[in-house]
Amino acid sequence: MKKIRFNISTKLMISFGIIAILLAALALYSVIESQKTLEESVGGSSLILAKMTLIGIDKEIYHRLEEVQKYVNRGHLQKTLLESNADFEKLDSIEEFIKQKDQEWTAVLRDEITPFMQNIFNKDISQMFRREFTEFYEKKYGYKLFVQVLLTNRYGVNIAETEKSSNYRHDDQEWWKKAKDNGFSVSDIYHDEYYNANCMKIGIKIDDEKGNFVGVMKAVLSAEEIIKEAEIALKEYETTKIKLLTGEGRVIYATGTFNFLEDVSGKDFFQKLQGESGVFILPEEGREKLFSYTRSKGLRTFEGLQWILLISHDTREVFNSAFILRNNILLFSLILILIAILVAFLLSRSIVNPIIQLQNTVLEISQGHLDRRVKISSKDEIGQLATVFNKMTGKLQESYSNLKKEIAERKEIQEQLVRSEKLAVLGQLAGSVGHELRNPLGSIKNAAYFLNMVLEKPEPEVKETLEILEKEVATSEHIISSLLDFARSKPPTKRKVDLNDLLQEILSHTTIPEKIKVISNLDKSLPVILADPDQLSQVFKNIILNALQSMPETGQLVVKSEILSPVQVAISFTDNGVGISKKNQEKLFEPLFTTKAKGIGLGMVITKTLVEGHRGTVELKSEEGKGTIFTVKLPIQKKKEED
Ligand SMILES: Nc1ncnc2c1ncn2[C@@H]1O[C@H](COP(=O)(O)OP(=O)(O)O)[C@@H](O)[C@H]1O
Ligand SMILES: [Mg+2]
Repeated sequence: MKKIRFNISTKLMISFGIIAILLAALALYSVIESQKTLEESVGGSSLILAKMTLIGIDKEIYHRLEEVQKYVNRGHLQKTLLESNADFEKLDSIEEFIKQKDQEWTAVLRDEITPFMQNIFNKDISQMFRREFTEFYEKKYGYKLFVQVLLTNRYGVNIAETEKSSNYRHDDQEWWKKAKDNGFSVSDIYHDEYYNANCMKIGIKIDDEKGNFVGVMKAVLSAEEIIKEAEIALKEYETTKIKLLTGEGRVIYATGTFNFLEDVSGKDFFQKLQGESGVFILPEEGREKLFSYTRSKGLRTFEGLQWILLISHDTREVFNSAFILRNNILLFSLILILIAILVAFLLSRSIVNPIIQLQNTVLEISQGHLDRRVKISSKDEIGQLATVFNKMTGKLQESYSNLKKEIAERKEIQEQLVRSEKLAVLGQLAGSVGHELRNPLGSIKNAAYFLNMVLEKPEPEVKETLEILEKEVATSEHIISSLLDFARSKPPTKRKVDLNDLLQEILSHTTIPEKIKVISNLDKSLPVILADPDQLSQVFKNIILNALQSMPETGQLVVKSEILSPVQVAISFTDNGVGISKKNQEKLFEPLFTTKAKGIGLGMVITKTLVEGHRGTVELKSEEGKGTIFTVKLPIQKKKEED
């Protein structure tokens, strides 16, 4: 797999980004945690409220239950019950009687009162029930707290009642059977069509003094008061809603409008109501809500009815502050991340740009531009690095140029060495050859002279041959003398020399071709110098001869002397001859270099050797087809001691 390479700025931006994201995550985590805590505390306080409300409801029920129990315990009902039970025992068939009477009871219309019924209503106990229960509370509360109160004997039939009940017999009813078995019963809430009220039935078993079962007293309790308990429960938030449900999931009370005893057991929230109490969050009616619930547990002997009190608040309201905080933190985090990335970007630019500059300069230097320098003015590590780097490059450049100079010098020295060695060998050869040729040439010259003397009137052809012989001998002598000059390059024997005089003397002894003009431009104030006049005369002759030879037809030679400085004079020879090509200029001072058919190529070598023997220099400036300037520069030496 290919490894991804990040540059410094990307790395910096990623690191800063990660730090910012971590910070943001931390902040968000703390918000979520605080929201949880808030949820627990709000849920918890709602739970307490729910418990208190349910306790209030249970107390209310228990209070009424106790009231009826206390009433029964007064013992004033036993006598009537015992009489009634005794009457029933006298009957042939109690069951037949009850059945018949019950049929008669339910056969008449709701409002119709039979004499049998009237007889029950008019009983003292019925009157007492009215006084102490129904009418008493109606007067007191403005409504019937006890909707109906009745008394059955041990066979379950009415023997006293405040209002007409729906049946004559009750021994088949839940409340009656439970009360008989357990001592008392409290029914779940229900809507009583007969009395058109929301009610609960309380049944109390009645025993005689010996503890024998004698009958049951029933009080139908209006649920108004109980519902009120739920109604007045504290509403902590605007969106707080309270629901009071039966254990089976029927609505007893709910904030706002509701259908009494509507079955909500199929709703989502009802599935969550597990155990005794709890807190949970669930969407309801399109809004997320925090629910707290608890079940009624009853009071003392009263076990309670497993009612459920449910309190809900919109999470949006409850967690409003947390939501605002979260949103602010999200916004802040976003800004933080952006700022972090921006800072990283700027920082990386300030770091990376100098590095790139450094890199570019290093590249340029590596390509040979040793004069390049890094332009970084910052005072940080990179700035310091740049300064050190520039110093290093400076030293490198210096040592490189020294090296170059040294190499050039060495090359020059080596060339000089090679040349002088060549010259030495050549000189030896030239010396011995010249020397050996001199004597035979002398004999030839003498022989020619003799022939010329003895022949008084020679034939013209013979005369011509003799002249050629003499001329060629002279040429050979010249060659030999140059060979010997070259071989004999001794150190100069210095005397006082007037260079102007020397030049004029040389020019006067030189045969100048007719078509060539010689101009001497001599500085009269030229000082006398210490030099070897013989050697210098040979130097000047060589140069003048070459110049004349370079102008085969017409031409002009300017000989000029001048003072260059208090310690140096210069003699220059300017011709307008054929000139010397660049290539030939390089080889000019090499021995045996010549472009002439009869040349021997020693003139310039001798010239250079002699001038350098005087610590002078020979300079050359030439252009092909235009002409050549030779300049001999010599030091002004006035006294021998200075040498
Ligand atoms: N003034 C000049 N103008 C043109 N060429 C010159 C001049 N001086 C020297 N040279 C060239 O330099 C060569 C070498 O000269 P030199 O050493 O005197 O040898 P030689 O004269 O025997 O050829 C000449 O052959 C000629 O080509
Ligand atoms: Mg020559």
